[in-house]
Amino acid sequence: MDKLRFATIGCGRIAKKHMEGIANNYDDAKLVALCDVVQDKAEKKSKIYNEFLAQKGIVQSKINIYRDYREMIQKEKIDVVTIATESGYHAKIALDCLNAGINVIVEKPIALSTADADLMVKTARENNRKLCVCHQNRFNKAVQMTRKALEDGRFGKLINGTARILWNRDMSYYKQAPWRGTWKLDGGTLMNQCIHDIDLLQWMLGGEVDTVYAQCDTYLRDIEGEDFGAVIIRFKNGAIGIIEGSACVYPKNLEETLSIFGQKGTVCIGGLAVNRIETWRFEDGAESESDVLRRQEGDPDTVYGFGHTPLFKDMIESIREGREPLVNGESGSVAMDIVLAAYKSRKTGMPVKFPIGSFSTLDMQGC
Ligand SMILES: NC(=O)c1ccc[n+]([C@@H]2O[C@H](COP(=O)([O-])OP(=O)(O)OC[C@H]3O[C@@H](n4cnc5c(N)ncnc54)[C@H](O)[C@@H]3O)[C@@H](O)[C@H]2O)c1
Repeated sequence: MDKLRFATIGCGRIAKKHMEGIANNYDDAKLVALCDVVQDKAEKKSKIYNEFLAQKGIVQSKINIYRDYREMIQKEKIDVVTIATESGYHAKIALDCLNAGINVIVEKPIALSTADADLMVKTARENNRKLCVCHQNRFNKAVQMTRKALEDGRFGKLINGTARILWNRDMSYYKQAPWRGTWKLDGGTLMNQCIHDIDLLQWMLGGEVDTVYAQCDTYLRDIEGEDFGAVIIRFKNGAIGIIEGSACVYPKNLEETLSIFGQKGTVCIGGLAVNRIETWRFEDGAESESDVLRRQEGDPDTVYGFGHTPLFKDMIESIREGREPLVNGESGSVAMDIVLAAYKSRKTGMPVKFPIGSFSTLDMQGC
C-alpha cells in the first residue's frame, strides 16, 4: 500500500513530536513538506525528521519547505496535514485543509471557540475527511489499561474521578512566545496544560457532561488567562469529576495525576505525564496490584510523553479502515467545551449547563 503523504504546518516546540510520530510510522507515512512562517524553523524540523530516519537506517528524499500553507496545500499532494501552530490559528488552517480534501491532525486544543470547533467537525464530515485532535495521553499504556478495565465493567458504578495538574510554568515559559497565556491565541492553564487530563477524565467518567462549575484566577503570572483553576464537572451518568490545575507550583512540576473511583475499583495514575499506575485495586482480583505495578513502562523524557506515535498510527489506520480516529473532532470538542464552560462559570459565578451555546476565549477579554 502507498505511504500516506504527510505535511506539518507550524514548526515550533511540539513539532518535534510530529516529526517523531511520522518517522516512527515510516512503513505507512512519509513527510513531504513542512511549513512555518519563519522558514528557518521549518528547515530545522526537516533536519530533525531526517535524523530520526537516519537512526533507523533510512534515507529520506527532499522535504519541500514553505512559508505559506495555502501555497503548500495547492502545490503538494498531501494526504494528512498535522497542525502545530498557536492554538488560535488551528481552526482557520484546519478548515482550509479539510476543504482542500486533506485529512487533519490538529494539536490540542481543537480550537478556542464552540463555533470554530463545530464548524471543523461539520467540515470534516461534509468533505468525508478525518479530523483527529492531539490528546496523545489517551495512548499511554497506563491510561489504555485503565480504559480497558472500564470497558470490561470492572469499576462497577462510577462515582468520581480527579485530575491534578500541579505544574510550574514561570514567566520565562510565557515569554518564549507572545501568544502564550493570551485570550486570543491560547487561554490559561486549563486550556493549555490541563486539557489533556480534562479529556482523560471525561473519556473515563462517561463523556456526556451535565454541568460545570469553576473558580479560576491569575495569581502569579503576568498573563491574561488563569494560572490556577479548580473545576467540578457533573456528568449525565451522575459521576463527578474534579480538576485541580496549576501553573504556579513552587518550585517545579509536582504531578500530573488521574484517579478513577468506582464501586468495585480504584485506579490512580501518576508519573511525569499520567504514565505510571500507582494504585490498581479491583474487587474481581483478576491480577495483583504488585504485578501490574511491575509491568510498567518508564517515565518519558518530557511531559509530552510517548503518545504522538500511536496517535498518528491510529489516524493512519482510521483513514485506511474508513473508521473514526480514537480522538476525533467530537472528542476534542468536548474537552474544549469543558474548559470554555469553566471560563463561562468564572465569568458568571454560576454553574454552566451543557450544551454551553456559543462561547469563546475572546468572551473572557477583560476578565
Ligand atoms: N500535545 C501536546 O502535548 C502539546 C504540547 C505543547 C504544545 N501543544 C500545542 O501545540 C501548538 C503549538 O505549540 P508550541 O509550543 O509548539 O508553539 P510554538 O510557538 O513553539 O510554535 C508555533 C509555530 O507555529 C508557527 N506558525 C504560526 N502561524 C503559522 C502559519 N500560518 N503557518 C505556518 N506556521 C505558523 C510559528 O511561527 C511557530 O513556529 C499549540 O496549540 C499548543 O497548545 C501541544
